[in-house]
Amino acid sequence: MPVEPIAPALLAWYAAEGRHDLPWRQTRDPYALWLAEIMLQQTQVATVLPYYARFLERFPTVQALATAELDEVLHLWTGLGYYARARNLHAAARRIVSEHGGQFPQDLDTLMRLPGIGRSTAGAILSSAFDQSHPILDGNVKRVLSRYYAYDADPGNAGAQHQLWAWAAEQTPLDAAHDYNQAIQDLGATVCRRGQPQCLLCPLQAGCQAFAQGLSAVLPRARRR
Ligand code: ADE
Ligand code: SF4
Repeated sequence: MPVEPIAPALLAWYAAEGRHDLPWRQTRDPYALWLAEIMLQQTQVATVLPYYARFLERFPTVQALATAELDEVLHLWTGLGYYARARNLHAAARRIVSEHGGQFPQDLDTLMRLPGIGRSTAGAILSSAFDQSHPILDGNVKRVLSRYYAYDADPGNAGAQHQLWAWAAEQTPLDAAHDYNQAIQDLGATVCRRGQPQCLLCPLQAGCQAFAQGLSAVLPRARRR
């Protein structure tokens, strides 16, 4: 089935409707963008906001974080959960200082070797900090793509992950990956959301296979086990 590129409509929608006031959309500092993506991995935007502000105030640079005691880092994380994130952040900050001279790594493979940074998080950081074109594939993006392509696969299966990464890569524009990646996050969080997607307000409706087939609300399928 023919499938349209989503970037043009998505970017136009983002310009008008995106959450441009989010604090990580007002900086190009890779350290601050890294922190945001780690906090956002398992925690919703509204919960992250006050933690993000407090953390950056106390640890404004990777050097400040690297020289801190782990206890203090964990204390600032209290309430966010998934504490391995804070331990990995601290360990990675120390490695950035000791192995990379305090310079934030600017390539995907180097970044992915740091603890707590998988392919999607690395792509999000490099696109937002350095305008590199890398796809991302977190829960929001998987949901949007599964619906857009009406992909009725078991999301737990490795073949499905592979297919979703291929679509994510194909759709990510070479010249606007920063805005595109932020835009698809916003679409997945607000319009193509879990539960009832707001298809009537969606900029991707014209090309969306789930909408065409009346499957918007049932995709992605619950994980089978
Ligand atoms: N979830 C993960 N990354 C995000 C981002 N950059 N903006 C909003 N939500 C996100
Ligand atoms: Fe999601 Fe509906 Fe938009 Fe399709 S039309 S991408 S299901 S909100």
